[in-house]
Amino acid sequence: MVSEFEIKKQICDIGKRIYNRNMVAANDGNISVKISDNEFLCTPTGVSKGFMTPEYICKVDAKGNVLQANGDFKPSSEIKMHMRVYEKRPDVNAVVHAHPTYATSFAIAGIPLTQPIMPEAVIALGCVPIAEYGTPSTNEIPDAVEKYLPYYDAVLLESHGALTYSDSLLAAYHKMESVEFYAELLFKSRLL
Ligand code: 13P
Repeated sequence: MVSEFEIKKQICDIGKRIYNRNMVAANDGNISVKISDNEFLCTPTGVSKGFMTPEYICKVDAKGNVLQANGDFKPSSEIKMHMRVYEKRPDVNAVVHAHPTYATSFAIAGIPLTQPIMPEAVIALGCVPIAEYGTPSTNEIPDAVEKYLPYYDAVLLESHGALTYSDSLLAAYHKMESVEFYAELLFKSRLL
């Protein structure tokens, strides 16, 4: 079994990857991992996700209440959105939220990723819908994404960003890469 410390290190590593690939600016984005039915590790709010160390990572229960946090760290302001994914998708063990440039541009323009432009995107993601705008940190976002959760593994958040989830942290992160790649290809092919 992978230790909790090891999972915290993996979260920091994925934080570096989303930051280094320009999928987030400044302190944006958040990541969580389910470690048991009532224990979840998550990134803290208001820090750069590219420069975290394991002691930054917080632990919450299924309602998002803090179980453990070091110093002044508090769980992500979007923890309710993560918890709604786990509630509605028992197969999911990790959630990634980021603001990748192309995917977020589609989310701002109100254009869902529904064109079957290449086999890999169809296989990895299928269609990626856009959940209606919700105010960050409120229940509006979880309420808006809820209806898409049973049918999709990636959702754009209107005028905000993207949300991906899967059975492992690496797979959830890879879905975020695929969403952004798919959005970039769609944008460039439309220009041509
Ligand atoms: P947190 O730092 O609170 O996770 O928020 C970042 C973000 O991207 C909100 O959408």
